[in-house]
Amino acid sequence: MSLSLCITYVQSGRANEESWSRLASPEPLRVGGDSREPKSLKRMFILGMGFVGNFFGEQLKCQGWDVSGTCTSVVKKKKLQDMGFDAYHFDANEPEWGILDVVNCHTHLLVSIPPLAGIGDPMLQHGELLKNGLMGGSLQWLCYLSSTSVYGNCGGEWVDEEYPASPTSELSKLRLAAEERWLNLGGNLGIAAYAFRLGGIYGPGRSAVDTILKQEALSEGQRRRTCRLYTSRIHVEDICQALQASFYASSAGKVYNVVDDYPAPREEVFAYAQSLIEKKWPGQITRSFEIEDSLVTAKKEGFAAEKRVSNARMKKELGVRLVHPSYRTGLQSIIDQMDNPFRHILLDS
Ligand SMILES: NC(=O)c1ccc[n+]([C@@H]2O[C@H](COP(=O)([O-])OP(=O)(O)OC[C@H]3O[C@@H](n4cnc5c(N)ncnc54)[C@H](OP(=O)(O)O)[C@@H]3O)[C@@H](O)[C@H]2O)c1
Repeated sequence: MSLSLCITYVQSGRANEESWSRLASPEPLRVGGDSREPKSLKRMFILGMGFVGNFFGEQLKCQGWDVSGTCTSVVKKKKLQDMGFDAYHFDANEPEWGILDVVNCHTHLLVSIPPLAGIGDPMLQHGELLKNGLMGGSLQWLCYLSSTSVYGNCGGEWVDEEYPASPTSELSKLRLAAEERWLNLGGNLGIAAYAFRLGGIYGPGRSAVDTILKQEALSEGQRRRTCRLYTSRIHVEDICQALQASFYASSAGKVYNVVDDYPAPREEVFAYAQSLIEKKWPGQITRSFEIEDSLVTAKKEGFAAEKRVSNARMKKELGVRLVHPSYRTGLQSIIDQMDNPFRHILLDS
């Protein structure tokens, strides 16, 4: 899409002159860019406005960015629009490629759609089309959200980004392939591209505290992960700060582990979450979340599936100082921000 078409799109009800100047950025990001391009715009497009996408989008909006994103349902699209996002219905299984014209009007692209079993990255199945569609647009930066699962089984060792990735499950193999291809695409487009390997994501509305408060049984996947001695995790707020830091980094094409300092067993995290709830709302939890035999199982597996993921590169090169270095401050901040979930019980009694 040409620059003039982009401007027409932006001006058609989405940004006025005031917001053009509001979007002025002191630091152009384009790698080998073209002087005719609107370097001053701060426009984020999020492919997959899920948990991270929503949180990041909200944060950027508060900083004066224009944020657009996709979801797969009409109901969610309406919800996102009500929140002030430019929302688009987009299902990568049945892609409407007109979406690329919209992406091209943005300066930044966050890719948050996970790979699909048997298919791989649903966007990259149409790699040539994607590349041709994005060539010559306004993009300056892209980041692909990946997972620490790409490391596979490491016998409990500390792993950094140089550790050979050796994924075991089908989805992790597809993840690794997707990382490489998104980074290549960024290189081909001449833009700054990053892949972030995220640990287990938690934050307000999605945490051990929330799981306990819902008083539901753990899912099969949760139970399996419970058996691990080390689970890397990351608070969504810290993912957002790492993303923002990468806007200004000069390490395009790199992979970063985005995890906190303290890989810990889920058992420990749930026990801590339960103690926080008990302290704040004593006597309200009727069901205990004791996790059976997890250590026994972990020992039986001989730590094979274990790894401790290092965040040293993220700290050194992106300059990230974690807001939540461990689950402890993360969960504390979540419970501090919570309204009393038992209020209706108190009102009824
Ligand atoms: N959860 C974790 O602990 C964890 C750990 C490491 C990495 N990750 C990965 O990091 C990324 C961000 O995580 P998250 O928790 O924010 O993910 P999430 O909440 O599950 O959001 C994923 C987004 O992708 C969209 N999506 C899924 N399949 C799609 C398809 N076929 N076509 C188009 N859109 C599709 C979803 O659409 P709807 O909004 O319509 O559902 C949603 O917006 C994801 O790729 C996730 O797999 C997650």
